[in-house]
Amino acid sequence: MRPTNATLSSYGTTIFEAMSALAREHGAVNLGQGFPDDPGPLDVREAAAEHVLNGHNQYPPMMGLPVLRQAVAAHAKRFYGMEIDWEREVMVTSGATEALLDCFLGLLEAGDEVVLLEPAYDTYAPVVQRLGAIPRAVRLQPPDWSLPRDVLVDAFSPRTKMLVLNSPMNPSGKVFRREELEVLAELVVKHDAYAVCDEVYEHLLFGGAKHVPLMTMPGMRERTARIGSAGKTFSVTGWKVGYITAAPAVLRPIAKAHQYVTFTTAPHLQHAVAHGLACDEGYFLGLSATMERSRDRLAAGLKELGLPILACEGTYFLVADVAAWMRHGEDDVSFCERLVAEAGVVVIPMSAFYVQAPPRNLVRFCFCKRDETLDAGLERLRAWRARAG
Ligand SMILES: Cc1ncc(COP(=O)(O)O)c(C=O)c1O
Repeated sequence: MRPTNATLSSYGTTIFEAMSALAREHGAVNLGQGFPDDPGPLDVREAAAEHVLNGHNQYPPMMGLPVLRQAVAAHAKRFYGMEIDWEREVMVTSGATEALLDCFLGLLEAGDEVVLLEPAYDTYAPVVQRLGAIPRAVRLQPPDWSLPRDVLVDAFSPRTKMLVLNSPMNPSGKVFRREELEVLAELVVKHDAYAVCDEVYEHLLFGGAKHVPLMTMPGMRERTARIGSAGKTFSVTGWKVGYITAAPAVLRPIAKAHQYVTFTTAPHLQHAVAHGLACDEGYFLGLSATMERSRDRLAAGLKELGLPILACEGTYFLVADVAAWMRHGEDDVSFCERLVAEAGVVVIPMSAFYVQAPPRNLVRFCFCKRDETLDAGLERLRAWRARAG
């Protein structure tokens, strides 16, 4: 047989799938993959069921149902004061994953450079590379995940076509501050580039912080594609309903990609998400407050176990330094595999989020879980440490 695609062949199965499979095999507590224990708001799930039973279950329009596109525009106005033309500037996709692919397919050419901030969500680099574009990774610096300005400035060049920004950021839990967004916006404008903003955790910020879309910064309205996901906003990660907001000239090529990738997205779920986006303020505040409590519960337990915890201001994730628990010569992947087998707890090795030369002493814990799940994970770690003497 002739060789298949070399770029994709060079990547293994995603670490999330691999670690979740290990979790099932070992009956482990899964603090790896980012899916909530919470089933999501009942009225949103009921809306989906109602539309399966009594709605129209055939192909919806390619750009998405008007009701959801209107809801996305209204949500942007309500939370960020943005004026969005739902007919020309909003498109529904099958999850943020598809939205990202559509943006890369629609905006990039082979040879274009794409600035990524690391640790980066693991779909960006492989897809960028598969298209013949070149990722330029800028590393945030632990423990506070600060953005090194000189390195950032050097990463931009006349070949830079795109910045990918994920704030709040998976896996670091970083929320980019306004001053950082200003620097990023200035560089994108200066290089006449696009910004693809993965904002799937826009409602998961802690300490009363408010999300600021890069799209609202000076000069960014016309050159940004902003991506949201119902999976994270309504704790229904299996639904895979995403939405892109972008100026017409940016959205048009992205929509061309969407028409060949999935063309459309399940209509009953689109109706339900439209219902959800119109929820009152209390729902959104409750979501972040619940998640913040879970972060604090996990962080307190890990601290008790003596693990250094890195800054976490949002998302589902908390990064810890496990150097003290690692064997001599062990890397983070083998450590995580040993942790499943010996302790019965799954976490994600942070090296999965770097293009090259990753740190090897960091792991990502997921805290979007019930107290019982978090406590069970912590208890297993405690017992394992006790056995280790
Ligand atoms: C940063 C980030 N972007 C995108 C996604 C994918 O979102 P969706 O499930 O809507 O495809 C995830 C899911 O974990 C994520 O963490």
